[in-house]
Amino acid sequence: MLKLPADNPFFTGRDVSLRKLDMLVAQAEWPRAVVVQGMAGSGKTALALHWAHRTAGRFPDGILFTDLRGTSGGPVTPGAAMGQVLRAMGVPGDQLPRTAAGLAAQCRSLLADRRMLLILDDAAGPEQVGPLLAAAESGLVIVTSRRRLPPPLRGADVRTLELRELAAQEAEDLIAGVLDPATRGSRGSGGRSPGWPASAGGCRWPSR
Ligand SMILES: Nc1ncnc2c1ncn2[C@@H]1O[C@H](COP(=O)(O)OP(=O)(O)OP(=O)(O)O)[C@@H](O)[C@H]1O
Ligand SMILES: [Mg+2]
Repeated sequence: MLKLPADNPFFTGRDVSLRKLDMLVAQAEWPRAVVVQGMAGSGKTALALHWAHRTAGRFPDGILFTDLRGTSGGPVTPGAAMGQVLRAMGVPGDQLPRTAAGLAAQCRSLLADRRMLLILDDAAGPEQVGPLLAAAESGLVIVTSRRRLPPPLRGADVRTLELRELAAQEAEDLIAGVLDPATRGSRGSGGRSPGWPASAGGCRWPSR
């Protein structure tokens, strides 16, 4: 559940957003987070994963990914999110603290000094994110959300990257890459997608 999912081998474009993400991360003070916010299917998760794979070397203590299921009928509770992180860091399930305060304290003691990247995907609200952001004070938290989140933690430096649908040219490059492997990587970030971005349907196609 928490292993970093594979990068999309068909990932295309997003050069501006990737550079902006680099810049926001470089500017932010600890504890720090970047919220990638945008409509359903705009490519938030794909962007976060692609960036994480590109920058993995900056996080020598590892990368954790957790799906907060914020847009499902059963969003992950803050306690369950912390429990998932602790389990991924090797804490046996039967030794997990039973209270939110205990979970938060153990997250802090395990994460505080680590240069880790935590990707909290599909957040419903700030309460799911705040305790983990407080714990990961030497690392970086990337949150994806369809919503504009209120500040999840007082004193934290939380930046927002708004993600719009792929530009028409990027969508065209993506489709060209899927249809013809020879064009893969020849434009933008390059790549082909096993799944069509829903947002590509919202693009205006150049008339020919
Ligand atoms: N830049 C891209 N290049 C290639 N494929 C992409 C790109 N961006 C998104 N996709 C693909 O489009 C689909 C939707 O993207 P993604 O799941 O990242 O959207 P999302 O914004 O996270 O949506 P949701 O709000 O539902 O979580 C996925 O199949 C993804 O792999
Ligand atoms: Mg997503």
